[in-house]
Amino acid sequence: MKQKTIFFCTDCGNEAPKWSGQCAACGAWNTVVEQPSYTKPKSGSSAGRSMGGSRSGGSARAPGNRPGELRSLDTSAEMRFSTGFCELDRVLGGGAVLGSLVLVGGAPGIGKSTLLLQICGLVGNSKVLYVSGEESERQIKMRAERLGVQGGGVFVLAETEINEILSSASELSPDILIIDSIQTLYNPDLTTSPGSVGQVKDCTMSLLRLSKDKGVTVFLVGHVNKEGAIAGPKVLEHMVDCVLYFEGERSMNYRILRAAKNRYGSTNEIGVFEMLDTGLHEVMNPSEMLLSGRPEMTPGTCVTCVIEGTRPILAEIQALVTPSSANMPRRNSNGIEYNRAMMLLAVLQQRGGLRVGGCDAYINVIGGLSLDDPGADLATVLALASAYKDKPLRGDAAVFGEVGLTGELRQVSQVNQRLTEIARLGFKSCIMPGRQKNKLQTPDGLKLVHVNNINEAIKAAILE
Ligand code: TYD
Ligand code: MG
Repeated sequence: MKQKTIFFCTDCGNEAPKWSGQCAACGAWNTVVEQPSYTKPKSGSSAGRSMGGSRSGGSARAPGNRPGELRSLDTSAEMRFSTGFCELDRVLGGGAVLGSLVLVGGAPGIGKSTLLLQICGLVGNSKVLYVSGEESERQIKMRAERLGVQGGGVFVLAETEINEILSSASELSPDILIIDSIQTLYNPDLTTSPGSVGQVKDCTMSLLRLSKDKGVTVFLVGHVNKEGAIAGPKVLEHMVDCVLYFEGERSMNYRILRAAKNRYGSTNEIGVFEMLDTGLHEVMNPSEMLLSGRPEMTPGTCVTCVIEGTRPILAEIQALVTPSSANMPRRNSNGIEYNRAMMLLAVLQQRGGLRVGGCDAYINVIGGLSLDDPGADLATVLALASAYKDKPLRGDAAVFGEVGLTGELRQVSQVNQRLTEIARLGFKSCIMPGRQKNKLQTPDGLKLVHVNNINEAIKAAILE
């Protein structure tokens, strides 16, 4: 019988019956690859192809499975547990959910394996199975010793064959299963190689069944491609409950954990870690870390307070504005969305009266943070204005406020929380929008400077 083939986009997982240079679904070029379609399941396996072969059988739905009424379902039992890292718990929405499937993505060497191995040592009474397709058991042990992970209740397995993993998991019945990484797993019933779209999909589906049927919490490591998305099909992201990205500059020590998808919590929260030679350590007060090493009395830097999830965080925004030698001035923005940054430059030109239109402008948020809180607008504008005028801002002031198209300043949410954080970090004054002056609880020792538009803000903030 002629082997059937199918075409997959390696970026989005779209399936097509014939090859094309550009994926019809996501528009990416040269990503469509040919793959043999699924071979028939081995005889004797009634479980079907998505069950990951014969040995995973038995996890099929019980015959008496009936719909249950929502209000009569029992949720009184503990549904979440702590991973031992408060920062990770916060990103997950208050701890890991029993029976959930969590995908952790990130660039090579960012610390995914380290994070998950440290969890093994922190979860206490739970039984953990750590499956690695990348390291041998002894290498894992060496790393665990270095990280100070005690081995009680932690089982390691160097294996890449999904059926072996599933049978080990059902023998051991762990509370937590860690797979490092999903791209190394394969199902021998499929003819394609590990890491291919079909294999990744199939192995994830088998693990999904395991987690939902047995209530095992599964953490999957996923490699990312050069665009920064999790390699393999987008369908992977649809299958799992939670997608976390571990980000950061490898040359710097801090790492930021961010949820791109979370069925059981908000995706606004971030977790901050520091990578030391003893592994990852939580950073409970990221503001201190982000402001350390801040230049004093230098043009082009401004401190703002943004709300990330439920937490106020102080961030430093830097700008550089130079006369442009090109016809089209160069604009670059890291950490502030590009279109937002361009809008703020235009407002500064038109309403603030600064001739930044013909200048190259560079904006950077320190620490690799990306800010989508509009409260960071004022700090961006002031950093740009200070860079343009080549005059420093008042060093004892932090600012926040949204900037409108007419140059007016608008109030932002959670003002009292921001003020408390600004005062806690030792700032003496805060430049903020003028409306809603009442209702404020001003912390002791913090002077509030209310301004109504960017011109007033520039006057109040920049030392002439
Ligand atoms: P790792 O967890 O192996 O990264 P990933 O699994 O995401 O590829 O982390 C490896 C990097 O972390 C490596 O560059 C060395 C560094 N590291 C430390 O700085 N301290 C440590 O204690 C450990 C274990 C790793
Ligand atoms: Mg690794």
